[in-house]
Amino acid sequence: MKRRQFLFASAASTMAFGSVGLAQAAARPLPLIPMTDLTGGIDARVPLNLAPGTHDFGNGAISQTLGINHNYLGPVIRAKQGQTIPFDVANGIGDTSTIHWHGLHIPGDVDGGPHQEIADGDVWSPDVPIVQHASMNWFHSHMHGKTAQQTYKGLAGVLLIEDDASLSADLPKTYGVDDFTIVLQDKAFDASGRMGYALTAEVFEDGFEGDTIVVNGAIAPVSQTVPTGLVRLRILNACNARFLELSMETGPLAVIASDGGFLSSAVEVESILMSPGERYEVLVDMKTVDTNALNVNLAGDGGGFLAGLFGGNQLTPVLTLSRTADEGFTGAMPDKLANLDALRPQDATVTRSFQLQMDVGADLVALAMAWDNFCGNAGAMAINGQPMNMDRIDETVRKGDTEIWRISVDDQLHPIHIHGCSFRILSQSGAEPPAYAQGWKDMVHVEDGWSDVLVRFDHEAPENAPYMYHCHILEHEDCGMMGQFTVT
Ligand code: C2O
Ligand code: CU
Ligand code: CU
Repeated sequence: MKRRQFLFASAASTMAFGSVGLAQAAARPLPLIPMTDLTGGIDARVPLNLAPGTHDFGNGAISQTLGINHNYLGPVIRAKQGQTIPFDVANGIGDTSTIHWHGLHIPGDVDGGPHQEIADGDVWSPDVPIVQHASMNWFHSHMHGKTAQQTYKGLAGVLLIEDDASLSADLPKTYGVDDFTIVLQDKAFDASGRMGYALTAEVFEDGFEGDTIVVNGAIAPVSQTVPTGLVRLRILNACNARFLELSMETGPLAVIASDGGFLSSAVEVESILMSPGERYEVLVDMKTVDTNALNVNLAGDGGGFLAGLFGGNQLTPVLTLSRTADEGFTGAMPDKLANLDALRPQDATVTRSFQLQMDVGADLVALAMAWDNFCGNAGAMAINGQPMNMDRIDETVRKGDTEIWRISVDDQLHPIHIHGCSFRILSQSGAEPPAYAQGWKDMVHVEDGWSDVLVRFDHEAPENAPYMYHCHILEHEDCGMMGQFTVT
């Protein structure tokens, strides 16, 4: 049993158990997240209103949440390469916040990281240029020290980028019919059924893991009818800390895209392991089966405390699909999706090494009590001996250089994210990455050995608006496992 799993077992035992494991419970309908579709043209600024809300996750209890234009979570925004999105981000949550565009290749001053704070009552109006290819991105709070709790409470949404190729590709693309955006999260609910979040020493150490999976804000399992044909799921792991091992009840997952865009061709696998912050698009064949289910293996790698308690597989359906007689996307599984350049590590002119560090001397129990859910600058975790410090630039990068970033750690499994780019993974935890992770990525898993990525930054991030690199276990990020870099 891994350390994080063991530690989580003690944290979890103090919480009420939710619906995990109740596979036979009646499925709720899959909520369709409202879409703001800008691909047809943008004729006004695009408001994103951050505000407190209340939300019923499906258990009848009213939870206190945060949302963006909605009571919980934000819209799915769909835009096209070449557009510039004029956002008006209005903060009304009663506390300072930020909104970061995770995955976008944009300059540091519109990146929405911890330096672009929006005071309560203020509006931040970045013009966000969309220069990259079709890809599934997202946006979430990046308020240093409070990213974990603000994102958990609901400050997150999805940003889909299309391009000419994706709009004309022979793929399912009717939103809510054969093309679904699936936001997976884990939650803890208290005895009265309300969403809870509390920081303890264990939560700092392992990240917050809830015992209940929710899909687009509804407690799993959720159900959806689909036409006969191929069905596309664009999946985001928006958990604070939980890795999700996903598989289908029947048949393989055909992975067609990762964080930064399409793979060169579909990769059929039994299961994928998604870290917090990762996105994968998959096609599910609903031509020949009447029902199917997307399962999460709660005993899989990084599956949390149930792995320790039960071992083996603990497959729990999160989304059940049942097919109607309607004809949907009847095309074939695509064989060519995109042209991915061959990896050329020999082009790298700079190599940087990053050592992730836990427990650099801080007393986590005291922190949990004294900081009242605020861990910023607490310095409990670090990279290369330095806990995150907003006033210190850790790396300076030259625009356009090809670099290799090497990351290692001696404890736990960490999902590392780099702003302002997509990269390619050369090695992941000392091994070749799975085929579905060999395309464009902005997240890499780091456990044993080195995780090496080949990266280039094409936009500027000055000293007053640097980019971040950090662990996407949000409590680790808040606790100091983050650094800053400029690109000039
Ligand atoms: Cu998704 Cu720096 O974050
Ligand atoms: Cu990011
Ligand atoms: Cu971490």
